[in-house]
Amino acid sequence: MSVDLNILRKKQRLTMVGLMTGTSMDGLDICVAEVEFGKKSAKINVLETGSAPYSEKMRTDVEICLELDEKMIVETDDLLGRFMANETTRFLNRHGLNDIDAVAMHGQTVHHVSGESTLQIGEPSFLAQALDVPVISDFRTADITAGGTGAPLIPIVDKWLFQRPEEAVVCLNLGGVANVTYLPSKTSDELILGFDTGPGMALLDEASKALTGNNFDEDGAMAQIGTAREESVEGWLSHSFITAPPPKSTGRDEFGANWISEQLPDMNSWRVNDVLATLSLFTARSVAVNCREFLPFETVKQIIISGGGVYNKSVMRQLETEFSSVSILTSHELGFDPFMKEALGFAMLGAAHLKGIPGNLPSVTGASEAVVLGKLTV
Ligand SMILES: Nc1ncnc2c1ncn2[C@@H]1O[C@H](COP(=O)(O)OP(=O)(O)O)[C@@H](O)[C@H]1O
Ligand SMILES: [Mg+2]
Repeated sequence: MSVDLNILRKKQRLTMVGLMTGTSMDGLDICVAEVEFGKKSAKINVLETGSAPYSEKMRTDVEICLELDEKMIVETDDLLGRFMANETTRFLNRHGLNDIDAVAMHGQTVHHVSGESTLQIGEPSFLAQALDVPVISDFRTADITAGGTGAPLIPIVDKWLFQRPEEAVVCLNLGGVANVTYLPSKTSDELILGFDTGPGMALLDEASKALTGNNFDEDGAMAQIGTAREESVEGWLSHSFITAPPPKSTGRDEFGANWISEQLPDMNSWRVNDVLATLSLFTARSVAVNCREFLPFETVKQIIISGGGVYNKSVMRQLETEFSSVSILTSHELGFDPFMKEALGFAMLGAAHLKGIPGNLPSVTGASEAVVLGKLTV
């Protein structure tokens, strides 16, 4: 590699590529941003963002990996590594971005047992060789090694992007799973809290796929004309993950295809719209009960929502009903594309790695200390 790592680490402003492949398994999100850490804050300048969808085959391959099929994991690690390298190279060329310092990639999670073990795939060497820059990956392991849950990692990014001087806010990301960050005001001595609340869009996506053949319910349109079955939702809310206190993190293994076959075995006999409306309500209400139960929510006046779920009007309406006394903003209204927050987040966590700045928050993951996250491939 022609880049001198010592020079890179001393650079004040790093031009980073952040790559996110979330639990929705919908594709690769790419964010190119300049990142500069000051003593107390971080400055960012987003240069370009974009996405590259997974093919149906790649999505199916990833689904098979989730069953911990060893051969498929090895093959898909290679396939995703090549895909990320090709798509990122094309993206950078298309936008004339040829002065990148490093890439930070989350990788596709195929296994995560909170506090025990985690596996994100997509071999980083392909990117490192294609772009001739260092690649930072495997962000979760160092937190687990330090005694943490390994997730969520976005709360520190929310702090960098959204913490306010005078008032507390909650950030909610609606990806495959839903997670919240509680940001006390900068002047408060309260701790930042953050955890997964349960299902985000994954159950809705699974039901949509099974009942309509579509990967998701565009705009939440089908759910919006359905009727939610309150009694089903009330029963599901007693799930041990939803009632457990934080730290906690979850995934599709808990709220995915298996959950659907166990809890909604008869969904074919429901109206499709009602299934989707009921699952939307489950997502919204599980977020709401977790916020009320486990966050100092009385002082919160605003929730900032990001993730693809922002585009599901049914989930958003139900969240507005659940949080009627709180104003709901999308990250878009604050200048950040809802799809891109996590890709930007990993660009920032990659820059933090190069600068030797810790990326986990022990108050969130339960780790014994704050540690630098990620591994470097050169
Ligand atoms: N136009 C849309 N209408 C409704 N839902 C959408 C739309 N676009 C995205 N979504 C939802 O957002 C999900 C993807 O969100 P994303 O933030 O990429 O999650 P992840 O980080 O888990 O990949 C999709 O699976 C879908 O449920
Ligand atoms: Mg996604």
